[in-house]
Amino acid sequence: MGAGDQSLRRARGGNETVISGPDVLDAGDGLVLRHFTLDDAQVIYEHVQANRERLRRYLPWADRTVSIEHTFQFLLDASAARQAGQWLVYGLWQDGEFVGAAGTHDIDRVDHHLSIGYWISQSAEGRGIVTRACRRLIRLAFEELGMERVEIRVAVGNDRSCAIAARLGLKLEGVLRHAQKLPSGYADIRVYSVLRGEFQGS
Ligand SMILES: CC(C)(COP(=O)(O)OP(=O)(O)OC[C@H]1O[C@@H](n2cnc3c(N)ncnc32)[C@H](O)[C@@H]1OP(=O)(O)O)[C@@H](O)C(=O)NCCC(=O)NCCS
Repeated sequence: MGAGDQSLRRARGGNETVISGPDVLDAGDGLVLRHFTLDDAQVIYEHVQANRERLRRYLPWADRTVSIEHTFQFLLDASAARQAGQWLVYGLWQDGEFVGAAGTHDIDRVDHHLSIGYWISQSAEGRGIVTRACRRLIRLAFEELGMERVEIRVAVGNDRSCAIAARLGLKLEGVLRHAQKLPSGYADIRVYSVLRGEFQGS
């Protein structure tokens, strides 16, 4: 049995495959992606509080996270979604310190595509941590989860996030007009993608 087989739990349902992903992913240079547990609620909530103004500009869930109970509920939802093969959310730990989160959502087990999302604390920005985390998640998607296409969707104006997609070699496919309601109003959303045969994973 290969490492991928050992770390993935797959359960057949019709002709679909439920994917719950490995618990831990090593992204190199001291960066570890680990599935959250309920014990992480406190540290996540503290980081959301400290970064609320930056996060709420582009991540609508920030405004709905106003007590640690909401973070507990998020963790319960994430665990259920993982079991159902819908999302895989990982905390980012750089040299043992929690710095943010990244994960896959909208996992389509029939047509084999998924989308990646992320956030990081301001104190850890500008070091390439999210770029490395995304590169590891894209490798997971193509090499271990059998995906054909990986997408990143970014609001027009979120230049740092657009830079991540471009740095990873994703192609800009187009813009979905007024596709997300943000505090600043309805945002146009850029769709970036990479296909399995295009990805340079190293
Ligand atoms: C979007 C967001 C995740 C970007 O974070 P980031 O720190 O800029 O992204 P990275 O970790 O990839 O770092 C890139 C920077 O590190 C630098 N860097 C250093 N070492 C690097 C390396 N080994 N590899 C890549 N970049 C590296 C890059 O040059 C770049 O620097 P710059 O900011 O001077 O251009 C962050 O701003 C954020 O959390 N924003 C709020 C939430 C959000 O918008 N989420 C995304 C919604 S789509």
